[in-house]
Amino acid sequence: MNTFLAQQVFRYFLTSQHKRGHGIHSPFVYNLIRSVFIDTTKYPEYATIEKVRTQLLGNKSSITLQDFGAGSQSLQGTQRRICDIASSSLSPKKYAQLLFRLIRYTKPSNILEMGTSLGISGAYMSLGHPHARCISLEGSAEIARVAQQTTLQCNCSHIDIRIGQFSETLSQALEDLGTVDFVFVDGNHQKDATIEYFETIFPYCNEHTILVFDDIYWSQGMFEAWQYIIADTRVRISIDLCKLGIVFFRTGIVKQDFRIRY
Ligand SMILES: C[S@@+](CC[C@H](N)C(=O)[O-])C[C@H]1O[C@@H](n2cnc3c(N)ncnc32)[C@H](O)[C@@H]1O
Repeated sequence: MNTFLAQQVFRYFLTSQHKRGHGIHSPFVYNLIRSVFIDTTKYPEYATIEKVRTQLLGNKSSITLQDFGAGSQSLQGTQRRICDIASSSLSPKKYAQLLFRLIRYTKPSNILEMGTSLGISGAYMSLGHPHARCISLEGSAEIARVAQQTTLQCNCSHIDIRIGQFSETLSQALEDLGTVDFVFVDGNHQKDATIEYFETIFPYCNEHTILVFDDIYWSQGMFEAWQYIIADTRVRISIDLCKLGIVFFRTGIVKQDFRIRY
């Protein structure tokens, strides 16, 4: 981690607000925190999905990797064990379960995921609101095949997993959905690409759309992309959780940026 990034993480820890919502005056964000962030219910879906994660973590078979994302470029075309992908690429359960609760609470009619990997976050999101139409984009065909198995095991085989680089699949997915309600951007963690995804997705957003960006402190570039996004006047509320960044476009509320210790 370079000095700039270390300073930003330090600043986050110094300035972030308590996760129980103390001192937060926005009723919208306060309600979200009380209903979603601090909900400690053990939903039965958690156990189903975590059982599959455990199986993936124990799966020693190898697949050919074709990762287009930042940070994994050197692994292109190489063999990689499923257990290694499971331990390095999947959203930790704390954050995947937050996505589940966010979706359970907001009930989006559709969900778009960029970066399926082995299907764990997709399963959480889809089970958060099983009636939602769900599209998940993945560049690597072999990884996507494993994700299909995950969706079967988690009873969410209705997730439409589309294989291809985001540059080839994103526009069609957006066209098919018409308007997007919930988007999780979790692949190709590079500044310019992330900004481009934001700009491409924005015309399909409505005032209730929620965009979630993963790894916003992963690199200086990702942090700068996050700063670009939250500075946009179309974004009304942003919540920085250090690992995830969440943005809302709701009209009629004062533009505000929150940092919450999660
Ligand atoms: C961090 S993993 C996703 C993890 C998953 N969302 C989860 O939490 O369970 C990112 C995935 O995005 C895919 N990916 C990265 N860049 C891509 C691109 N430009 N086009 C298509 N897929 C890409 C990678 O192959 C990888 O499987």
